[in-house]
Amino acid sequence: RQVLLAAAGAALGLCGCAAARQEEAASGPELILRYAENQPEDYPTTQAALAFADLVNERTGGRVKVAVYSGGELGAEQSVIQQMQFGGIDFARISLSQLAEYVPALSVLQLPYLYEDAAQMWRVLIGTIGDEFLAMLDAVDLVGLSWFDAGVRSFYTREKVTRLADLQGLTLRVQESDMMSDMVEAMGAVSVQVVYSDVYAALHNRKIDGAENNWPSYEAMSHYEVAPYFLQDEHTRVPEIQISSRAAQEKLAALDASFPAIVQECARESAQLERCLWAQREAQAEADLRAWGVEVTLLSDAEKQKFRDAVQPLYDQFSEQAEMIRRIQQA
Ligand code: GCU
Repeated sequence: RQVLLAAAGAALGLCGCAAARQEEAASGPELILRYAENQPEDYPTTQAALAFADLVNERTGGRVKVAVYSGGELGAEQSVIQQMQFGGIDFARISLSQLAEYVPALSVLQLPYLYEDAAQMWRVLIGTIGDEFLAMLDAVDLVGLSWFDAGVRSFYTREKVTRLADLQGLTLRVQESDMMSDMVEAMGAVSVQVVYSDVYAALHNRKIDGAENNWPSYEAMSHYEVAPYFLQDEHTRVPEIQISSRAAQEKLAALDASFPAIVQECARESAQLERCLWAQREAQAEADLRAWGVEVTLLSDAEKQKFRDAVQPLYDQFSEQAEMIRRIQQA
């Protein structure tokens, strides 16, 4: 497993943004804020969180320290969101699927087969559309800071599957997200919502036949060991959001009126680093897992069309956001 893990330190250097050194003021920080991340330490999102922490520390002259808790130490994503609404956690990086449970309009950004590729998704997220969606989090007492990449998700299973027909009746794990359940059910499978950290055990104990995720998560959580068949249907891109609590913003502003804007800028810079680390890690994870022996099935155009047709009912549910879907597809 060690061999499979990309050397995050080296990757950080390659992205040309070696994080600034934490320099605490002689008297120590005046404010210590907590950041929740459910991925392991060497994962791109965690590395970007650590870079964010270093930038904040540097640009507030050591007055603000951000303590990053990785590996889900502060709880699973749903619990982290709730804790943030009450100010118990200050920052987090959360999958859009989870935030969409609170702000349903966000779901449109994760419709299956919405984007042609990552570049199109980024044309949507970096700019006015992305900003409009970040601002929607205000309604649930959260502050959207920046967008992170989480690649594209595909299915992987305990037994070999190669086409849509093989998914019929299989029990597949999805995130705690109604949209993800609807998607998998539209494809003919039975969906089960399982917390990320429990998926390995559920596969191992045969409670589920498979799951779906991006290459880096499939590798980092060792799911490939128990579900070595990867059906590369690339059904959805689920971007992620770096958020802060409203209470954290208030604490920052109370210390110095310029700090909220500084933190926002650090979040955007760390997001640029994350995209770079993500691209490297995604390619590395795929190469490592193919070498390890994961059996990958690519879909023919005709087969992929069957997947697209199967999820069409989801688009029908979003008829009120038809104009937004058009804007996204034309980006
Ligand atoms: C991705 C994402 C996580 C999420 C996970 C999941 O790995 O980065 O934040 O928890 O998907 O499938 O639950």
